[in-house]
Amino acid sequence: MLKIDVVRSVAALRAATRPHRHDGKRIGLVPTMGALHQGHLELVKAARRHAGFVVATIFVNPLQFNPAEDLDAYPRDEATDLNLLAATGADLVFAPNVAEMYPKHFSTEVKVGGLTKYLDGPARPGHFEGVATVVTKLFNQAQPDIACFGEKDFQQLQVIRRLTRDLDLPIEIVPVPTVRDEDGLAMSSRNRYLTEKERIAAALLPASLRAAVADLQAGAAAAPILEKTRAALKSAGFAPIDYVELCDAETLQPLPAAREGSRLFAAAHLGRTRLIDNWPVL
Ligand code: PAJ
Repeated sequence: MLKIDVVRSVAALRAATRPHRHDGKRIGLVPTMGALHQGHLELVKAARRHAGFVVATIFVNPLQFNPAEDLDAYPRDEATDLNLLAATGADLVFAPNVAEMYPKHFSTEVKVGGLTKYLDGPARPGHFEGVATVVTKLFNQAQPDIACFGEKDFQQLQVIRRLTRDLDLPIEIVPVPTVRDEDGLAMSSRNRYLTEKERIAAALLPASLRAAVADLQAGAAAAPILEKTRAALKSAGFAPIDYVELCDAETLQPLPAAREGSRLFAAAHLGRTRLIDNWPVL
């Protein structure tokens, strides 16, 4: 059993980081909701490369789950998470409870417009406001110099880049490539909901997106390719399919054909699990 310091209040977090900042170390932040897997740990390693003191946070943020979603069922395993974080080289864990994060009468929301009109914005009402609000708070609480986010949640990464720029936060956002299982499925805490049969079918999501990427790169119109991808997912048992879209990677606006800076995005349900994935196109 490895040891890692855990703080649960903002005051204790500030007290624990202050001496390291004073020593001239850059502070790196890795926000997570726990139930950690190798994808999260690559974020910690990236933070290690950019910062002298790495703070990982574990907080299942109720604000970013809408009532139909899996807040109560969301996997939680703090003891295992702490071991993994210690073994990967995090220096400190901030794991507040809901009352610490959202005191009574909490009533402020951070809303990023524009790029939240697309993809998961309409599919998950309120989700990005919840993410933007908690990440803004985590930034203010930890005051990091750099913060790492995964490309697996590409729209989230763009929302955070946008709010950081728009609000002049002095934080460098470091993107980390998607970590995948051997069959291509993007690692996700939610993958543990998949049955054995669903887990096999799940690999069709990255496979069909990669096939579509190849077609799109050849310059064909997007609509029939996207339709073919939706049909392939449907016959593999995905239902409902929230979206399969080709979008501009910066604005996330849907595109009729591939061009420089375009990216393919998909979200679809398999049984009780919602899977998302994205791939660069050009
Ligand atoms: P969570 O889903 O726990 O993910 C935490 C971070 O890990 C995010 O930046 C996410 O993009 C990254 N990540 C997850 N799976 C990954 C994978 N397979 N490869 C690379 N990175 C991966 O995302 C959240 O939590 C929350 O919305 C949060 C930002 C913590 C705010 O509550």
